[in-house]
Amino acid sequence: MKLVFLGAPGAGKGTQAKKLVEKYSIPQISTGDLLRAAVAAGTALGKEAKSYMDKGELVPDRVVLGMVEERLKQDDCKKGYILDGFPRNTLQAEELDKMLSALNMQLDAAVSVDVPFDDLMKRLTGRRTCKACGQMYNIYFNAPQKNGICDKCGGELFQRDDDKEETIKKRLDVYNAQTAPLFDYYKNKGILKSVAGTGSIDNIFANICSALGIK
Ligand code: AP5
Ligand code: MG
Ligand code: ZN
Repeated sequence: MKLVFLGAPGAGKGTQAKKLVEKYSIPQISTGDLLRAAVAAGTALGKEAKSYMDKGELVPDRVVLGMVEERLKQDDCKKGYILDGFPRNTLQAEELDKMLSALNMQLDAAVSVDVPFDDLMKRLTGRRTCKACGQMYNIYFNAPQKNGICDKCGGELFQRDDDKEETIKKRLDVYNAQTAPLFDYYKNKGILKSVAGTGSIDNIFANICSALGIK
């Protein structure tokens, strides 16, 4: 299963991708997570990326493309993967197509998780993530049992640097201008599957599985 997850910031791409990972043990390739790891490690790439991420802008294509290409060549991607947050503009989508044909791979579907714009701000300002295991919570919608502590592993929860109201507004603008055109890109290829991203996390997951024809 080789998938692209499309959707606005806060739509639930990461939440749903993690459920697919659990069920099918294929890797989630989140360019946002890879970039945040590079920022945390303090690499040159991370330092460059941080200046864009803090503003809510896209990191330059060459940085992201190199990262994805390296990741796709790893052995665990042979049986499938979920690209989460990539591609994010038309150039990245075209370059992904070239990369995949060179690797003799083909995408099965681009899944779009659709959430009304007005819901996204609350999802993002309320998001909390476990430092240790990556589990995601939301103080408004699925709060942890103990404030600031992960239910799963007891780890400490943190708030992402780019989940501030001003930065979120910019991310949503960038999404509308640069990423939204990808719906047509994949629709024209005949592989777009649109799923409503509101309601319970489990229900949305069931709808994604049924759109993909898997159980
Ligand atoms: P990235 O990390 O990809 O962030 P994003 O696209 O803005 O998406 P998010 O991760 O914020 O949202 P999500 O859809 O994963 O939602 P989640 O599941 O967490 O990118 C960050 C930055 O990195 C970019 O701004 C850019 O600078 C850079 N970057 C990344 N990729 C790049 C690329 N390809 N090219 C260039 N630059 C790139 O859910 C959100 C919240 O909602 C959580 O709290 C969750 O618990 C809650 N929630 C989930 N589902 C539900 C539900 N059904 N009901 C209620 N709440 C829910
Ligand atoms: Mg995410
Ligand atoms: Zn945890």
